[in-house]
Amino acid sequence: MAYDPNSQSNLDEVKTSHIHLNLAVDFVAKTLAGSAELDIEAIANNVSKLILDTSFIAIHSVTLDGAPLKYTLADRHEKYGSALTIELGKTLAKGDKAKVVIGYATTDECTACQWLEPSQTVGKKHPYLFTQCQAIHARSMVPCQDSPSIKLTYSAAINAPLRAVMSAVPTGEEKQANGTTTYKFHQKTRMPSYLIALAVGNLEGREIGPRSTVWTEPEVIEAAAWEFVDTESFIRTGEELLTPYDWGRYDLLVLPASFPYGGMENPCLTFVTPSLLAGDRSLVDVVAHEIAHSWMGNLVTTENWEHFWLNEGFTVFVERKILGRMQGKEHAEFSAIIGHKAMVESVEIYGKDHPFTALRPCLRGEDPDDAFSSIPYEKGFNLLYYLEKHLGGPEVFEPYVRAHVQEFAGRSINTDDWKAFLYSFMEKNFGQEKVDLLNKVDWEAWLAGTGMPPVENKFDDTLAKACNCLCKKWDHSRTVEKPTEFSPKDIEEFSPTQKVVFLERVSELDSLPHSHLELMDKLYGLTPVRNAEIKFRWHMICLKANYEKMYPEVAEFASTMGRMKFCRSLLRALYLAKNGAELARATFKEHRAFYHPIAATMIAKDLGLAK
Ligand code: BES
Ligand code: ZN
Repeated sequence: MAYDPNSQSNLDEVKTSHIHLNLAVDFVAKTLAGSAELDIEAIANNVSKLILDTSFIAIHSVTLDGAPLKYTLADRHEKYGSALTIELGKTLAKGDKAKVVIGYATTDECTACQWLEPSQTVGKKHPYLFTQCQAIHARSMVPCQDSPSIKLTYSAAINAPLRAVMSAVPTGEEKQANGTTTYKFHQKTRMPSYLIALAVGNLEGREIGPRSTVWTEPEVIEAAAWEFVDTESFIRTGEELLTPYDWGRYDLLVLPASFPYGGMENPCLTFVTPSLLAGDRSLVDVVAHEIAHSWMGNLVTTENWEHFWLNEGFTVFVERKILGRMQGKEHAEFSAIIGHKAMVESVEIYGKDHPFTALRPCLRGEDPDDAFSSIPYEKGFNLLYYLEKHLGGPEVFEPYVRAHVQEFAGRSINTDDWKAFLYSFMEKNFGQEKVDLLNKVDWEAWLAGTGMPPVENKFDDTLAKACNCLCKKWDHSRTVEKPTEFSPKDIEEFSPTQKVVFLERVSELDSLPHSHLELMDKLYGLTPVRNAEIKFRWHMICLKANYEKMYPEVAEFASTMGRMKFCRSLLRALYLAKNGAELARATFKEHRAFYHPIAATMIAKDLGLAK
């Protein structure tokens, strides 16, 4: 039976099989208003109520077959919202079905939606709306069983004054007499509620592959179409590794700068941050990552947020397999080196004994957003990487990963389900020898242990060597007042990713003198750099060194780039830097409306400004 500590729904009595949304997008009131029709089925006997998750939603009516039903909205749980209890007016026996229609509207406190003013878009002329439902924000957009253990199909009719796109296949549009248009969608593959997604704005589409269109504001369509040309090859490589792509379309939506994540794997339509538009195709591994979710997460889904690593660890593993096949093994291993550093930082931030540093944390009473970090990604990846080696390499492990998808596609699973299938696959296909190897794995330390993983994997450092070497040179130069051995040539041959790794190595050193940082900046052109990953590492070095001259640059970047990886980390580091706290708080307060509600909440907590 599904267990989900982060949902208030009666998951043991009812499941939803389909939701139809009928919503009007009102940019003046900043609301989505209309109805959600839920097709439910009793999974137990004597079911007389349906309990749904809601958060900051105004409920107007609830009906069943046209007849009004009694309902109550409970007092708000601080983290999980207000449970909506609906009296069905009859008892359902196991297998009985019903259609419940809920009339509702969102409010200005809904955390899934960000309503942007025209001034916050690239074009500056039209408003924009986008949603972000993972992990538990779908309940602030649609009253639903907001648990990844529930998988459903959905359809929608969205009435809007500008183009609407969703995590589904478009099925038609109808112009209305008042000048608005109704956009229709259908998602035929069963998926969890956190993958419901909507964006509305001045959008233009450009075909970039046989099943892919990139959507953006017209001003950046050219750049986006150029950056993401490799999309189809990523999907093909995923299909070679796993199973045929199931979702029909794979479109991309490049959002305005306030989008809080790098990418979000909304089915049929991945959402990405505009910071991927580096102009050199160096950041498209995020697209490979979101494509990998088409299998890992979207087909095989975590049962609840305690097993989030099954989504992200597996996705990172497949992302690096795709990268390895397309660009060569050393690139995949280089990515693992960067990932390892991110994990070390996350463990440092939480502290090595913190429960959220465990691969499978307990989230009872917790907000999954607070548990979000690189740990499920990289500890999960490292576990799978270790298992692959331990069990005999890709010839043994890749067939297993494919079988994992075939076994669990369409289902929601937990870590025990995962492990049981791993054992049974290995036994069936390779015999007792592999079972003996599996029995040698320290499962307790990997799954429940806090801090860094129990086994340290070795990654191929071919691409890291030059970065480490240059970093050492800088380290040795620290005692010389005006070092002369450096020049722009040092990094001329570096790929953007090598520049990132060079800066990461520098950030691990005791801070260099400010005059050295000034020289490095001048020679390597760091402050004006466009690539957000490079800029971010440079800013972090300056903050660690309390290099106050750069603080205004940091504040500027952190208030125009809403991807939390950048703005949240920078504001936190600025807050901790010498004489930085005031500026960090002031920057956040001044630009609060720029940030997505999810990012604003997290930053407020980091800066000690939470209510
Ligand atoms: N699904 C995640 C983003 C997410 C996770 C949103 C949890 C809300 C809650 C997405 O696939 C992701 O992992 N994005 C990364 C990409 C990176 C690992 C390549 C990001 O945003 O940086
Ligand atoms: Zn992911």
